[in-house]
Amino acid sequence: MKKITIKVNLNNNNYPIIIGKNLLSNTGAEIKKIIPKAKGFLLITDKNIPKSYIRSILTSLKSKNKYLFTLSAGEKSKNMNFANAILKKLFQYNFNRDDCVIALGGGVIGDLSGFASSIFKRGINLIQIPTTLLAQVDSSIGGKTGINSIEGKNMIGTFYQPKLVLIDPITLKSLPHRHLVAGYAEILKYALIMNGTFFSWLEKNSHAIINLTDMNLVMHAINESCKSKTIIVQKDEKEKNLRAILNFGHTFAHAFEAVKKYSEELIHGEAVLYGMMIASSLSVKMKMLHTNDYQRIKNLYEKLNINYKIKNLFNKNDINKIFDYMKHDKKISGSKINLILLKKIGKARIFPSDLNKNIKPILVEQFN
Ligand SMILES: NC(=O)c1ccc[n+]([C@@H]2O[C@H](COP(=O)([O-])OP(=O)(O)OC[C@H]3O[C@@H](n4cnc5c(N)ncnc54)[C@H](O)[C@@H]3O)[C@@H](O)[C@H]2O)c1
Repeated sequence: MKKITIKVNLNNNNYPIIIGKNLLSNTGAEIKKIIPKAKGFLLITDKNIPKSYIRSILTSLKSKNKYLFTLSAGEKSKNMNFANAILKKLFQYNFNRDDCVIALGGGVIGDLSGFASSIFKRGINLIQIPTTLLAQVDSSIGGKTGINSIEGKNMIGTFYQPKLVLIDPITLKSLPHRHLVAGYAEILKYALIMNGTFFSWLEKNSHAIINLTDMNLVMHAINESCKSKTIIVQKDEKEKNLRAILNFGHTFAHAFEAVKKYSEELIHGEAVLYGMMIASSLSVKMKMLHTNDYQRIKNLYEKLNINYKIKNLFNKNDINKIFDYMKHDKKISGSKINLILLKKIGKARIFPSDLNKNIKPILVEQFN
């Protein structure tokens, strides 16, 4: 499959998402087309990213003014201390806004580098080179940046669009399988909320995606996902309304992650997989989703051996903790929480759901 370009058209910012195999060695040339004035480059990555990817990118940058900053991996790096450390490097190397930050890694590196870039001299050029499936189909696109604080996850952040997103699916070959399944959650989400045809395609091809057995199919799934996210972000960049449908399954997922204290025991995409199944089940309860559609979703999970029963993860005593967390969600108004539910496979809507009448019973039901 050839290189694909998707154009993101926003009011003040247009940028391409380029998807192609073995793109890393072209990074310098692709950046030059978009920001020819950039002379200084800071490549930010983490310790788990293979050195060969870093070498390819650095070699492709035809400048003497190029630097590497390698951080420890994982969510614990996504904080103000690391954002400060990035800012310090940018000052130390005398960077200005025409220069360029390149984020090479998963959502952690992308969100953190994006945040630091957005506040450095009010915004330095940013290039996203996502290397996890989750980052390739979701976090690198759309401009949400963020860091965690003691007040919570992603509580500090900005909207800041990159100048270019470069997606090389071959980088997924070094990614642990667990993270492939986690990224698949977001792919499945796009199909469920807005593209029934893509869901039918996933019914046939998902196995090849989570096992990377056919890179052309993987590329197709990434392309479809990026197109879906682009459509939504173009209509509602700052999440005033429509962008909220991207939160399908996420309100439950955030509560599950919080109860597990954001530990490695449950990573984000896994929590989303559980969350989407409960949201689908609630959609049936609310007489919005036909049981046949629900059964197709369940069949797909089962075919792929994806766990969807939260009783394997929590015990009955945790229900109150999950529920308490949901009561404090940002989307609460009175006794209702704005959940994203399915009308059918490929169509979602925002539905104000009652905490006591709808949410609690569906959680309790999971333990029967
Ligand atoms: N900005 C957004 O719109 C948005 C959307 C969804 C999630 N997020 C954020 O994304 C983060 C999660 O992202 P993630 O799942 O990519 O996690 P991550 O960045 O922690 O990456 C997961 C693990 O994979 C390793 N890794 C990355 N690429 C690799 C590769 N090619 N080969 C080998 N190892 C590799 C990383 O070092 C890390 O250990 C969370 O902080 C979440 O809040 C942001």
